[in-house]
Amino acid sequence: MSRPKKKTMTRLPRSPRGKAGGKAGKAGGKAGRQRRASPQAGRQRPASRQTGRKVKFQVPKGTFDILPNEQNYYERVSGVTKQLVSAYGFLPINTPIFEDVQLFEKGTGATTDVIQKEMYTFKTKGGDYFVLRPEFTPSIVRAYIEHGMKSWPQPVKLYSIGPIFRHEKPQAGRFRQFHQFNLEIIGEASPINDVLLIQLVTLIFKKLGIKGFNIQVNSIGCSDCRSDYKKLLIDYYRKQRRKLCRHCRERLKLNPLRLLDCKEEKCRQLANNAPQVIDYLCEECHNHFKEVLETLDELDIPYLLNPYLVRGLDYYTRTVFEFRLEDDSLLELAGGGRYDRLIELLGGKPTPAVGVAAGIERIISVLKSQDIKIPREVPPRIFLVHLGELGRKRSLKLFEELRNKGLKVAETLSKTSIKSQLKAADKSGAKIALILGQKEALENNIIIRDMKSGVQETVSIERVVSGVKKRLKK
Ligand code: HAM
Repeated sequence: MSRPKKKTMTRLPRSPRGKAGGKAGKAGGKAGRQRRASPQAGRQRPASRQTGRKVKFQVPKGTFDILPNEQNYYERVSGVTKQLVSAYGFLPINTPIFEDVQLFEKGTGATTDVIQKEMYTFKTKGGDYFVLRPEFTPSIVRAYIEHGMKSWPQPVKLYSIGPIFRHEKPQAGRFRQFHQFNLEIIGEASPINDVLLIQLVTLIFKKLGIKGFNIQVNSIGCSDCRSDYKKLLIDYYRKQRRKLCRHCRERLKLNPLRLLDCKEEKCRQLANNAPQVIDYLCEECHNHFKEVLETLDELDIPYLLNPYLVRGLDYYTRTVFEFRLEDDSLLELAGGGRYDRLIELLGGKPTPAVGVAAGIERIISVLKSQDIKIPREVPPRIFLVHLGELGRKRSLKLFEELRNKGLKVAETLSKTSIKSQLKAADKSGAKIALILGQKEALENNIIIRDMKSGVQETVSIERVVSGVKKRLKK
């Protein structure tokens, strides 16, 4: 008897969850390094075949599959959004999900958490550095400049819906791939646009049936008034530096405004006595904000003035706002603000703009927790039943003909027994079953069966559409 061959330990590839798989992963470090260094590395056989062990793949951490039974939530949120924002003159725009890293470093801001900690960057074979978009706004601004939208009638109102990528620590309501609906109004400084966005998000939430959220607003001024304010703020915090959390000590150097919205208790207490930006606004910023608030009052949109609201992205000027749940979670559903310097910063002409984005998964979690029912699509009222091979083939053709005539039909072409097909028809709630057997197919006929009464009638296939429509009207 020959001795069993000694198993060679090979390093498993990193699992989608970012850990080397099992014991083999730990033991085979050297082999793994050799394999990766080899120019043949790309042609290696999958680890499961090399080790004989099955690899269990899972979605990457912080991401999720959207299964068929979840799709209606996404369709509902994007459907309501599209319908409302189109009525207000917003046009759809799609941009690539990856872009030049520098677009975001410059646009979102090098000192922000998004850029410092959360970017999914990669280098292409051609040597380009790209990032999976961590937000929409810089991409939309790039497109505005690149396609000369300055020459379009201003303001240009654009909306996008799609995936966003941030390498954050996953937790409830915080994912690494999530979806946003995003609205931008570019080319007009009027405060009416800030309010229009707040109103639109309110309308979307109301139409979806969401309750228990509030709108918080603040103005963080322009670069002129903010620079004086920043000096005061740094002065205030420097004196209390030792009382700050580790992150805030760092922020004090890079982005002192962010100290105001730190969630740490000790930093929150210090923020209470910090100078408030609103007291240091220049006259223009002050008037702009006053008009935002007066227009919100005019429209009866309730809001809370939050002097600590600064938002986490560098490009904001003047108005900033957030939609938050009023429960203990204080979950942020949407956030936005004005960004009057960003277009210039990214290479365009000085152009004022304002925008907002909402997290679709967070909205869906609220729809579920508030037990808000999603209107379901009306199920097909006609069920196609076949008998025999010829009946099945003809059914496929007939299905398409009926669909072309605007009739919604259900079928179970994979089933063969008439009993199980009629059972499925019954379960579907269809009003009518169309039965196409071998005999009917040969004679160019079809049976129309009323599912409730069981009454059946044979009609010629040419008359099936009118026959069905007549019965559905009854
Ligand atoms: P943001 O506040 O970074 O703003 O994101 C907007 C919304 O996306 C948040 O209010 C939240 O609902 C959702 N969100 C953010 N991070 C996550 C995550 N990790 N998982 C799930 N949902 C998340 C922006 O992105 C700006 N571009 C908004 C804007 C548009 N400002 C001007 N124009």
